[in-house]
Amino acid sequence: PATPPAAQQSDAKPAEPAKPAVKELVVGTDAAYAPFESENENKEIVGFDIDVVKAIAEKAGVQVKFVNTPWEGIFKTLDQGDRDLLVSAITITDERKQSMDFSEPYFEAKQLIAVSSNSKVQKLEDLKKLKVGVQTGTTGDEVVQKLQGKTSPNIKRFESTPLALKELEAGGVDAVVADNGVVINYVKNNSDKGFRMVEDATFAKEFYGLAVKKGNAELVAKLNEGLKKIKEDGTYDKIYAQYFAE
Ligand code: ARG
Repeated sequence: PATPPAAQQSDAKPAEPAKPAVKELVVGTDAAYAPFESENENKEIVGFDIDVVKAIAEKAGVQVKFVNTPWEGIFKTLDQGDRDLLVSAITITDERKQSMDFSEPYFEAKQLIAVSSNSKVQKLEDLKKLKVGVQTGTTGDEVVQKLQGKTSPNIKRFESTPLALKELEAGGVDAVVADNGVVINYVKNNSDKGFRMVEDATFAKEFYGLAVKKGNAELVAKLNEGLKKIKEDGTYDKIYAQYFAE
C-alpha cells in the first residue's frame, strides 16, 4: 500500500485512548423492592435482580452500571435513551411487549395480599369494597383494578411498594397487593407488626424479564445468552439460594 503524503502524517491527531470494546450499559431499577432491588446503608443498589444482571453481564462481556430510577416513568427511559436496560422485577405482559422488548424470563412470581393479622380477608374477592394499596402501574394495580374497577376510589396508589406497606401499617389501607417475593420479605422482616399474607387461586403466574428498547434485538440476544450460561453453570441457582432459600 502507498505511504500517505508526509503533510497528512504530521497533521494526524494523536491516537485516541483505546475505547473499551463494549460501552457500559446503564441499567435502570426502582431500588425499593427488596429483596429484588434496594439501597443498602451505603447507598449501593443491591439485590437478587442486581446479582443476576451482574452475572449475566459478566458472561456476556459487557459492563453495567445501576441507576436508581423511579418506577413511574421507568419504561420511558428506554425510549429516551437514558437507560439501556431495566431490571426491576418487571412482569412481562402483552401490553408492555408492545412498547419494549424483553429477555427470556428469569424469575416466576405471583401476586400476594398483605393484611393485618386481625383482618377477615381470605381471598381477593374480599377486597372488593376495601381500601387497597398498590404501587401505581404495577401488575398488583391491574389485579385490583379488575376487581374494583379502574376508577374505584378505594384503590390507593403509591409511587413505591414500601410506601403502600407503610400505609397498611398506619391503617390507612386494609390491604396491599404486590409481588409475592416482596410481600413475604416485608412480612418476615416486620414480624413484630402483625401482618398476614393471603394467597388467591385466581392470581396468575407472572414472569420477570429484563426490558430493553423496542427493536434492540442485539442486546436481547446478548442478555439471553448470558442468562442461559448462568443457568447452565449453576450461578443462577447460587444467587437464587442466597435470596430465597428457606
Ligand atoms: N412485577 C410487578 C410489575 O411488573 C411489580 C414490579 C415493581 N418493581 C419495582 N422495582 N418497584 O408490575
